[in-house]
This record gives sequence, C-alpha cells and structure tokens, in this order.
Amino acid sequence: MTKEEIIAAFHFRHDCKEFNPDKKISKSDMTFILETARLSPSSFGFEPWRFIVLQQPQKRELLKATSWGAPKKLDTASHFVLGLTMKRPLLQWDSDYIHRFMRDVQGHTEEMCATRLGFYKVFQESDFDLLDDRKMFDWASKQSYIALGNMMTAAAIIGIDSCPIEGFKQQETEHVLQEQLGVDTSLYGLSYMVAFGYRVVEPKQKTRRPIEDVVTWIE
Ligand SMILES: Cc1cc2nc3c(=O)[nH]c(=O)nc-3n(C[C@H](O)[C@H](O)[C@H](O)COP(=O)(O)O)c2cc1C
Repeated sequence: MTKEEIIAAFHFRHDCKEFNPDKKISKSDMTFILETARLSPSSFGFEPWRFIVLQQPQKRELLKATSWGAPKKLDTASHFVLGLTMKRPLLQWDSDYIHRFMRDVQGHTEEMCATRLGFYKVFQESDFDLLDDRKMFDWASKQSYIALGNMMTAAAIIGIDSCPIEGFKQQETEHVLQEQLGVDTSLYGLSYMVAFGYRVVEPKQKTRRPIEDVVTWIE
C-alpha cells in the first residue's frame, strides 16, 4: 500500500453509529481483523486479552440495558466484539498463568523463566507500581486498546467500518457477562466493545487539532 492509501484508510475510519444490517462481513475478512488483534504487541508479550465475538441476537439483546452507547450497534453490526482484559489473579508476576505462559507459549526454560520473572516482579512492584487490582487492570487494558486500534485500522484498510464503545456501565455489564455469557469476571474485565460492519450514511467531516498542536519535535 502507498502512504496515501494508508492515510485514506485512516480518514475512512470513523465512529460508525449505525450499520447496514443486511450487509455481513465475510468470515475471512473477520478472521483477518481478529488476527491483527492476536498479533498485537503487549508488555512482556503476555497477551493480557481475550475477545468474544457476540453474534447471537438474543445474547446481544442482554447487553442493551447496561450499555447506553451500544444499542443501535448491537442491533445492526455485522460483528460485535467484546474486548476483555485479564485481571490481577492472572497477571501478577507470581501467577500460574504467567509461569505457564512463559514456559508453554514463549518456550522459555525454567532458568529463563526465573530470570525474566525477577524483572517482571520489580516492574510490577516498583517501576510501574501495579500491585493493586485497579492499577493492574488499567495497565493491562492499555495493552488491549492496542489490539482495538489495530483491529479498527485493519478493518478500515479493507473497507470495513467500526465503532469503539465505552458507553456501558462496567460493573453491571460484567455481571451480565458472568451470568449470561460464562465469563469468569474474577479473571477478566470488560475494557471495551467494538462493532464492525458497513455504514448506512456517510460520516461528517473529521475534526482534529492541527499537527503542530499535537506533536513537539526536539531536534
Ligand atoms: C475508547 C473509545 C470509546 C468510545 N466510546 C464510544 C461509544 O460508546 N459510543 C460511540 O458512539 N462512540 C464511541 N467512541 C467514538 C468516539 O466518539 C470517536 O472516535 C471520536 O469522536 C472521534 O471521531 P472519529 O472516530 O469519527 O474520528 C469511542 C471512541 C474511543 C476511542
């Protein structure tokens, strides 16, 4: 792709409020979008996320009561994704998840695991001061949002619209996820929702501050 084509995709992406309910994203395009989430970078490479693609209309309906920013998207989006983020019991340096992840996913020897865990412990204890439920979740959520950005950009590049959604009551919605969708909310929290599909109306002109107000060069 040329730089112009990539920038055109960034202009194409907008917060699509309503989708064409009759136009569905193909399985291979949705797989492509989700693959860009899977390949996203994360701190220490621990991939503190999980994505639920919520397609059953009855299940989508359950989210409406606690998600003021989502009803129209829940009704019309071709694909509707819940961005879950791991909580402290999974991500703390001495958790089973982290140890198994280093060994089984990253392929480290026990010796390497021990060395790396030493760094991770200091990072969590003092460098970033993360040993608190809220701080840990917010730190991990920052990483889940990288996956969100990648999914939306990837979608735009292939002509698919999206809308990120934080318009929900977090605790109440997580309760629905626990009771109705089988999510263990002691281990995962809901960071965001993101709807994908095809627009029904053209977006308004994008508004952004000029580049000088956003970037400082020190040369
Ligand atoms: C983290 C995040 C949460 C958002 N939550 C909502 C939402 O709940 N409902 C909605 O319609 N738009 C939501 N938006 C869309 C923003 O309002 C939109 O991205 C912003 O106004 C810029 O417009 P643009 O996306 O068209 O460039 C959200 C955007 C982000 C990044």
